[in-house]
Parts: sequence; structure tokens; C-alpha cells
Amino acid sequence: MTIRPILIHPEPKLRKKALPVTVVSDQMLRLADDMVETMYEAPGIGLAAPQVGALVRVIVLDCKGEDQNSDAIQMFNPKILFASYEKNTHEEGCLSIPDQYGEVERPSVVTVGWIDRTGVEEQRTFNGLWATCVQHEIDHLNGKLFIDYLTPLRRQLITRKMKKLKREKLQG
Ligand code: NI
Repeated sequence: MTIRPILIHPEPKLRKKALPVTVVSDQMLRLADDMVETMYEAPGIGLAAPQVGALVRVIVLDCKGEDQNSDAIQMFNPKILFASYEKNTHEEGCLSIPDQYGEVERPSVVTVGWIDRTGVEEQRTFNGLWATCVQHEIDHLNGKLFIDYLTPLRRQLITRKMKKLKREKLQG
């Protein structure tokens, strides 16, 4: 497995709609495995393929925060099948927007359908941190970032900070 570089906002690839996975090929499996490795190394609790520059509908999650024995879940073509009317607010961050956080309100319970590594359809209902995390990652597949839920002023401020961070990184 390989750790892949994570793209930092603002970046056009983070704003594109990712394409569905047609076949869970060896290449797709390698991508998902690399994403798990990259997520753990960062460290983070979720990662979407566009964040490593691959515009395909693949996400990985491991929200251990609330469940110490969990393993990473790899989802191909994840889709929200049900979202509760009841909302929950969590402080979110993103590996593509390092060290910036904001409160985001989302449905507190979601049922998600996806294709697993073996090509089989899975379905599961998530709540708590997992519900936030899976919605955040699916947003990435649609070119959406958590800062889009914040006020325009806050979003501009964070974007400016990220531009500065990227400039500094380039200069070494
Ligand atoms: Ni993110």
C-alpha cells in the first residue's frame, strides 16, 4: 500500500463531481487500500478519492472515536438512501482543509447503500459521528466541502488561509 498525497483546498479536482465505479477492478481496490493507509497516516477518520486526485466514487471511513474496535469501511458508489428529519450538529474538519474546523448541521441518521470490495451491495444505517462522517465523505464525491455550510465570510477566511498555506509549502 502507498500513501498518496492529499490535495489541499482550493483545488479544482476537489470541486468536480466524481464518476461512478463501473467495475471494482484491481486498480479500484488498490486505490481504496491506499486511501485507508493515507487516512490512517494523516491521521483522519474519513477520506474520499477526489482528495487524492482520483475522480471516482470511492470513500473510506473509520470513525473509531466512538467505537474502538472498528475497521475501516471501503465504499464504492456510496449513496444516501434515507436521511432523518432530525438534525445533529458536529464540529467538522477535513484533511484537505488542515487545522480548520466548523460546526455543520446534518441529518442525524442516514442509511447508506454501497458496493463492497467483492462487488456485493451493502446497506447500513449510521448515526452519531459515523453519520456525519459518511455524509461529509459523500459530499466530496459531489465537489462539496464542509466549508460550504459555513457563512461566506468564514469560508473566504479559511480559503485565504489555505492559499497562504499552499504558497508556504511551495516555497518550502
Ligand atoms: Ni473532507
